[in-house]
Amino acid sequence: MDSRNSEYYENFDEVHGILMYKEFVQYWDDVETFQARPDDLVIATYPKSGTTWVSEIVYMIYTEGDVEKCKEDAIFNRIPFLECRKEDVMNGVKQLKEMASPRIVKTHLPPELLPVSFWENNCKMIYLGRNAKDVAVSYYHFFQMVNAYPNPGTFPEFVEKFMHAQVPYGSWYKHVNSWWEKSKNPRVLFIFYEDMKEDIRKEVVKLIQFLGRKPSEELVEKIIKHTSFQEMKDNPSTNYTVLPEEIMNQKVSPFMRKGIAGDWKNYFTVALNERFDTHYEQQMKESPVKFRTEI
Ligand code: A3P
Repeated sequence: MDSRNSEYYENFDEVHGILMYKEFVQYWDDVETFQARPDDLVIATYPKSGTTWVSEIVYMIYTEGDVEKCKEDAIFNRIPFLECRKEDVMNGVKQLKEMASPRIVKTHLPPELLPVSFWENNCKMIYLGRNAKDVAVSYYHFFQMVNAYPNPGTFPEFVEKFMHAQVPYGSWYKHVNSWWEKSKNPRVLFIFYEDMKEDIRKEVVKLIQFLGRKPSEELVEKIIKHTSFQEMKDNPSTNYTVLPEEIMNQKVSPFMRKGIAGDWKNYFTVALNERFDTHYEQQMKESPVKFRTEI
């Protein structure tokens, strides 16, 4: 592993023992003291698990399938990113404070770091999990295209960091396990990216029902069409192309990259895969959460 003094860590800091983008940490009091409202909906994920996909589906449910309303603004303005902060340019807490209810809140926080007021208010939460290998591949590309992120090194070097929680939001293993534990509460719905890839209709119906609405055939159809990978890749309100190249360089790697399950096979060598599997088994041996690495 890199020494903690290396260039890799320059833009990162720790919050409650979890690696995090430095500028987010500077304003952590604002996150911790955030006031939830009882009708807030939280969308929580480990980074690169399909947050944008499930967010757009939820937004479609909230607008009863109004595609035009979904296109009115970029997804990060319609569904603010709670802990995101860059001076006054990006401020998830401020956006949310100014927003009328019902609010949809995006976060990558593990449950222990989620502002307590979400728990006190018994807010509904959706957690989307994705298998660790595809997350690592997606995160690796994300590191390359986000200018504020350091050089991730070679893919095997990056996987090593991923395995040892040396990436923002820390351990994927702890994240999925803590959220799984929370999902014993019926107000917390845990779903899988791979299930969405396999049978989107089933997962969309599940989401609609969780949000207390009726899954009419027309609504389900509209959602499936509007949130397909290709539609979202071509849609400026979901593909992040409204952000300047200095923030995300989509020439290096598009935000809507491949959108498949099993891309890890194109990146993991046999040796790396074996190493990863051994470590995975150790980390997850007590875990009841079962991920599929292909469908
Ligand atoms: P890949 O890099 O593997 O393509 P997040 O929104 O949490 O940052 O996750 C991004 C990942 O979700 C990317 O994965 C992206 O392509 C994928 N994704 C986004 N929208 C999708 C969709 N409609 N269908 C399938 N995958 C999607």
